[in-house]
Amino acid sequence: MSQYQAVKGARDIFPEEAAQWKYVEGVVHTLASLYGFSEIRTPVFEYTELFQRGIGSTTDIVGKEMFSFQPDPNGRSITLRPEMTAGVMRAALQKNLLSAAPVHKLYYICELFRKERPQAGRQRQFSQFGAELIGVSSPAAVAEVITLMMQVFETLGLHGLKLRINSLGDSDDRLRYREALKAYFGPFNNNLDDSSKERLEKNPLRILDSKNPAIQDIIAGAPRLYNYLSTSSVEEFEKVLYYLTERGIAYEVDHRLVRGLDYYCHTAFEVTSSELGAQDAIGGGGRYDGLARELGSSADVPAAGFAVGMERLLIIMEKQGLFAALNPQGPLVYVVLQQPDLADHGMQIAWRLRKAGIKTEIDLAARSMKAQMRDANRIRASYALFIGKTEVISGHYSLKNLVTSEQTTLTLEAVLEILHEPAVREMIKL
Ligand code: HAM
Repeated sequence: MSQYQAVKGARDIFPEEAAQWKYVEGVVHTLASLYGFSEIRTPVFEYTELFQRGIGSTTDIVGKEMFSFQPDPNGRSITLRPEMTAGVMRAALQKNLLSAAPVHKLYYICELFRKERPQAGRQRQFSQFGAELIGVSSPAAVAEVITLMMQVFETLGLHGLKLRINSLGDSDDRLRYREALKAYFGPFNNNLDDSSKERLEKNPLRILDSKNPAIQDIIAGAPRLYNYLSTSSVEEFEKVLYYLTERGIAYEVDHRLVRGLDYYCHTAFEVTSSELGAQDAIGGGGRYDGLARELGSSADVPAAGFAVGMERLLIIMEKQGLFAALNPQGPLVYVVLQQPDLADHGMQIAWRLRKAGIKTEIDLAARSMKAQMRDANRIRASYALFIGKTEVISGHYSLKNLVTSEQTTLTLEAVLEILHEPAVREMIKL
């Protein structure tokens, strides 16, 4: 055993689990493209101010969860990205994407970093898939990103998820609401914890996001943002709900939902699962028209998006038995050497099979024939191709179907032909 362990909050993904990841990623790629989204990849680190401005300096992410460092003594601080939305908007603005086309639909599957206390479903290095629809400000755009997210869950077979949704209104609505919250929480100042006291000064909406059980009763009595929304904000929200209802997507309006990032306006949403324990959010998102202006754009850029935690998604899928059909794919053929001195010939055959696109395995450790057969079964090879002295001389090889135990003797050309048969390829899903 190595004296080194993976860093706390980071984990290794071994082949069997990697196959599960690949399967989920495949579904994400397919559905994203079905909805017209194209993949974007941005750098793993960004200048720290991007997240301070974009996510908001009073949020937990910026306040205590960022991995930031200074690469040069007098250089600017940089941060390992804790989320993708700010980086994607930065990239879109930097490239002036909106001058090329008015709407951009981008998606990603990538690694993120947050300095949180590791626990089940919460890591310091984790992954998200997500989508950002930039350039349209409409309930239809919000409904489209929610629909894509829910279709991914549905396609993967997840059940028991709860979609909660709320409207955070526009900036005027929130300004009025902030004053109302200040007036409400002010008299409770002595009962609030330190971080809520600080939030009361800087950003009272964040108090609603507090998980501190001691102040939940106070929070429960706070005024509701919904009562401060303008008529047009209410209409906008109602239209999003209308689209979801039309598409048979179940939701629950939750007027307390504020989300942990400051860039949201109008619709915000979160999906939770009871399979997850304390960290029950599998994904979330919303509209974020003001983010571009925070990043230096001269005007708002309408946008909406979501992100889903891959690890949490996989935890739910494992618990719900959704990987059962995912058989690890073994090689089609295992080249079995009857004697170690035939290794060169065997390797030549294996090379020819692989060149012909046939998934092939061969023992490189000069093990006994029995050990090779054990290995072939362990890795679920469909066929064994035997290489003995007679085979080398005659050019005819014994091919054994390891499922039916049928055995035939054939030339290499005939072997190639059989293994190329569509039925065989279908059987092993080549
Ligand atoms: P978020 O709610 O911070 O939103 O993260 C989305 C999801 O990432 C969470 O629901 C959770 O499943 C997963 N996640 C977050 N932190 C961790 C962690 N430490 N370990 C494991 N999983 C985690 C955002 O990141 C926004 N950028 C979403 C968005 C996109 N809004 C608009 N566009």
